[in-house]
Formats: sequence, structure tokens, C-alpha cells
Amino acid sequence: MDGEVRKTEVIRTNNFAADAVALLLKEARAALAERGEFRIALAGGSTPRPIYTEFGRTARDLPWEKVRFTFGDERCVPPDDEQSNYRMARETLFEPFGIPERSVLRLSGEIDPPLAAQEYEDQLKVIATQHGETIYRHDLILLGLGEDGHTASLFPGTLALNETVRRVVSNFVPKFESWRLTMTLPLLNQARHILFLVGGGKNHELIERVLAGAEEFPAARVAPVHGRITWMIGA
Ligand code: 6PG
Repeated sequence: MDGEVRKTEVIRTNNFAADAVALLLKEARAALAERGEFRIALAGGSTPRPIYTEFGRTARDLPWEKVRFTFGDERCVPPDDEQSNYRMARETLFEPFGIPERSVLRLSGEIDPPLAAQEYEDQLKVIATQHGETIYRHDLILLGLGEDGHTASLFPGTLALNETVRRVVSNFVPKFESWRLTMTLPLLNQARHILFLVGGGKNHELIERVLAGAEEFPAARVAPVHGRITWMIGA
């Protein structure tokens, strides 16, 4: 398939953070050159921490005012809560590297979850409409992989997994007995490029089953309609 871009690429690396940052930079520069902006959705959890710091350090020359950061999901906590994905990104990237606030679209974890989801959905719709798009299209969405095969806050057996219309929803997660906010498969699958970031300690059997398409795992249901997926797997 010369010249044709493969839908899914698996990269196993001993230089996890460096290789992830190189991919982020490549995507950022391509998007900025082609469309004058770079739309990236950040993943939460712990795996991305060193990647965000290294990205900020390496990408100092990027025009941050032309980068739009969104979040694939958020815990329903205030932005300064240690559980907040926004706080993690603020500490590792936004604050240390002076990312302008207007470049960051934060999920309001501190307000009523359905209201927060609707607010975010409306904000994305305004931007999409301004660009003549029917649905907001990310250049790059970063996703993690939970030990139960969840990604973003799409957990096995939860209602958000079945959403076919809404782009952002609140999702009750019984295992945590708490609410989450999450992008849905319709929005994730509009991305130009999905990058799964899977650190070295993750369960290898799970990874192989997800890569084989086992749809009991939500991560296996991420399938960009007109885009591609890269799995960056740390050794
Ligand atoms: C979250 C994340 C979640 C995360 C995975 C992996 O809010 O927790 O968005 O989907 O990416 O749970 O988390 P770790 O990177 O901590 O293993």
C-alpha cells in the first residue's frame, strides 16, 4: 500500500516520552502549516505527565495562541483538586510554559455534570460552526488505556459507551461511585489522528486483546472515520 497511510500503527519504544513528543510536534507543525491551528485533546491520568512537560520544553517555538487544548475527559472535581486532569496539565504544561488561558478549553468538573457536559458540547459546536464543520474535528487526540480497557472516561458497561449523538456527556462510573465527563465515540472518531499512550507497566495481554479489536474493551471501539491511530507503547 505505497503512499497510503495505514489506519493503525503500533510503536514499541524504549524512548516513550521522547518518541511521543516527537509525534506531537510533527502533528502540531503539520496542522499549523495546513490549517493555521492545532487542535489537540489531552488525556488524563498519570502516564502523560512526563510527555506534557517534555512537550512544553521541546515545543517552545510553537505559536501557543494557535494551539487549542481540549480534554478527552475530566473527573467531576474542582480544577485545583489533585484528581483533576486539568490540574495535571496546568502543572506539567500550561503554567511552566506560559500557555495562554484562551488556548485551553477546560471541562468544568466543579459544576453539575450534565450541565458541564452540555456547556462543553456547546463550546465545541460554536468553534466547529465558525469553521464550517458539522462536528469539531481534532487534529490529535491523546488517549490512555485503563487496566479494564477503558479510555477517556468510557468505562466498560457504562452508558456513555452507547452514545451515538452527543459529543460530550456526563457518565456515572459505578466502580468509582462517581461521575465523570467524557468525550464520546462520535467525537473521538472524528479525529484526524488518535494517539494511545500506554506506559511500560501496562498489562500486555490487555494491550494485545485491544489491538486485536476485542470490543468488550472500550479502547478497542475507538476507530477514526477519516483518521488513523497510533499506539505508542513503552517498553
Ligand atoms: C483519566 C484518564 C483515563 C486514563 C487511563 C490511564 O481521567 O483517568 O483519562 O482514561 O488515561 O485511566 O491512566 P494512567 O495513565 O494513570 O495509567
